[in-house]
This record gives sequence, C-alpha cells and structure tokens, in this order.
Amino acid sequence: MFVTFEGIEGTGKSTQIAMLRQYLEAKGRRVLVTLEPGGSRVGRELRKMLLHMEGKDLTGETELFLYLADRAQHVSQVIRPALDRGQAVISDRFADSTVVYQGYGRGLDPKLLHQFNKIAVAGLWPELTILLDIDPELGLKRAMTRNMREGKVKEEGRFEAESLSFHKRVREGYLMWAALNKERFKVVDASPGAQAVFEDIRRVVDERFGT
Ligand code: TYD
Repeated sequence: MFVTFEGIEGTGKSTQIAMLRQYLEAKGRRVLVTLEPGGSRVGRELRKMLLHMEGKDLTGETELFLYLADRAQHVSQVIRPALDRGQAVISDRFADSTVVYQGYGRGLDPKLLHQFNKIAVAGLWPELTILLDIDPELGLKRAMTRNMREGKVKEEGRFEAESLSFHKRVREGYLMWAALNKERFKVVDASPGAQAVFEDIRRVVDERFGT
C-alpha cells in the first residue's frame, strides 16, 4: 500500500496522515510515514537548502532539480525498501507536488515535469493520492498560526511567505492535475474539522484497499 497526500499549506496533511497511520496500525498493518522533501538522509540536507528563508536566491531550475534529487533518493532508499518489507507507506507530498508547484505555480511545463518525475520515481507510483483541497486564504491562515506556534517562521517560512495569488494558482493546478489523473487521485474537502475530513479519507482508503 503506497498512499500520498497532496495539497497547499494549511490543509491539515500531517494531522490526517497521523490519523490514517493510527487507523491502519489498529488494523494490524505496519506503516511507514515519510515526507518530501526530506524523507531520506541526503534528502534532509536538501530540505534545509530548499526551505530556509535564506534560500531565496535559488533559481527555479535549481529548485526543481533539488526536489527531483530528493525524490530519486527517497524512492530508492526509503519507499521501495519499506514496500519490499511489506510495510504500508504514506508520504506527505510526492511527485505531484513538483508538477503543481514548479509547473502550475512557477510556470514550468507540467508535461515536461511529469517526464522528469518518471526518471525520479523509476516506475514507482502511488496507488492512491489524496488531495486535501482548501481555499488558500483559509489554508494560509492555518499555516501561519502553526508556524508561529512552532517557532519555525525563519527556517521554513519561505513558501508561506509567497503571495496569495501563487497559492491560488497552486490550488487550481492541483485540481486540474487531479482531473487529468482521476484513477489515482481522490479530492477531499479539507475545510471541515479534522474528524469529519478523516471520515472521508477512511472511506476512500477502505474502498481502495478493502482494509
Ligand atoms: P513543508 O514544510 O513540507 O510544507 P507542507 O506542510 O505544506 O507540506 O514544505 C514543503 C514545501 O515544498 C511546500 O511549500 C511545497 C514545496 N514543494 C515543491 O515546491 N515541490 C516539490 O516537489 C515538493 C515535494 C515540495
């Protein structure tokens, strides 16, 4: 079982992932929760470079290749071995983040990015991708509150500092990309409370995997 979560900031991805992990473990599955960027040892170094406020001088192309490098390492060193050991894998972001943020968000060609992703994932695609969808104004408000509370404004605030119009493009991009990949994506409304959102996710996971 390989499931990925996607969505803009503040959709509550980490909360939902923690709930799904608990749900699956209660059913006796062994679960690995991981994330991009930063799911592997090398990836953690790349993550620092990518998300630090002072990384503002990264060019779009450099950023793209760092995300792809992170993904290639993540798939071969972490995700594939875990699946081979029989674990269920849940990743907070995966290949679709590149198509949407670097493509629809920053203007690179989504189809070309999909080709790059094919190299990075080496044939390993999620069986299910859950897109948590929310109005960017609400999402950003939630993300800001979380960052202030956790005191990580300086290290990880680069994306949250982006303009609202960027996040609107990203949200629309996600919805378009999900529509183009209907058999893999499920769009879930992330605006209600955590428990209600999880009910939707649980239903989708049960249907897909017969858990
Ligand atoms: P993160 O702190 O993990 O935020 P979130 O809680 O929103 O997941 O930051 C990851 C950021 O990196 C997020 O803003 C999206 C961006 N990103 C890309 O632009 N391209 C990618 O391929 C990936 C994996 C992430």
